[in-house]
Amino acid sequence: MASGERVRVAVYRREVAASLERVLENVRDWEHLPWLHRSSFAGIERLDAGSWGWRARVAMQPAGVELIVEVRIDPDGSRYVTRTVEGPGAGTEIWTDLELRAASRTGIRVEFRVPDVAPQHAADLGAAYVRLYTRLWDEDESMMVERQARLAERPRRSGADPEPLDLGPLDSVRARLPLRVAWGGRSYRVVDVDGELRAHATVCPHWLGPLDAASVEADGSVRCPWHGYRFDVRTGRSCDGRALRLDRAPRVCVDPETSRVRLDRASPSPSEERGRGPAGLPG
Ligand code: FES
Ligand SMILES: [Fe+2]
Repeated sequence: MASGERVRVAVYRREVAASLERVLENVRDWEHLPWLHRSSFAGIERLDAGSWGWRARVAMQPAGVELIVEVRIDPDGSRYVTRTVEGPGAGTEIWTDLELRAASRTGIRVEFRVPDVAPQHAADLGAAYVRLYTRLWDEDESMMVERQARLAERPRRSGADPEPLDLGPLDSVRARLPLRVAWGGRSYRVVDVDGELRAHATVCPHWLGPLDAASVEADGSVRCPWHGYRFDVRTGRSCDGRALRLDRAPRVCVDPETSRVRLDRASPSPSEERGRGPAGLPG
């Protein structure tokens, strides 16, 4: 008969190249599970969240098995416990201790405590947890490192756009699509949407996720790989109704006489146009 007694099936230790601040931000970020960790999680629905942590219904890959999971974070940020509240493995607790080792190094110790495990299955179950957590922390670490780098380098917007940039003959530009270009110290990508060339910013306005490898859908949208938010590359607007927008991108112009392609200043948006007012005075 099940006693509910938990058995420690494995302990996993590692260090990640991220600050404690980034790690705790990541722990609170329930939303990335089915996107950043898409090979492990199929979906998530938040049920509750607060300064204490979060609770969510989580669908696992590959079968879509659902669990209710709760993450509780110690107030001093040195430990959090992930509990399976309902579903297969209910009662499992995963205790994670965090240790600040340097400005961008955090030590991690994870202990897996599973109820009612037969002794002969404990080692295999422990190994499976360690494999899963190695993959999850690899994916988290790459996101945290990239986010930290973007936060550090985030360019300040200068008032003026840079000079137009010649990209070459239309045929050769089309042959290189999607084309990454740097303009004015920022990175853009030129893509074809419905036969028209468009440039879009390659940094997601949510958490600075990478949009430079996102496929462009038939409706002109790209999806960020970190949390799945979608943006229309023609307008920069959120396709999910969020108050987020891609940074303004240059216009892609094709000279009708020479067929050369250039990046040029974007037309001001209607609100910028309105704000300009007569003789350059605020409207
Ligand atoms: S960084 Fe969160 S959706 Fe892009
Ligand atoms: Fe994660």
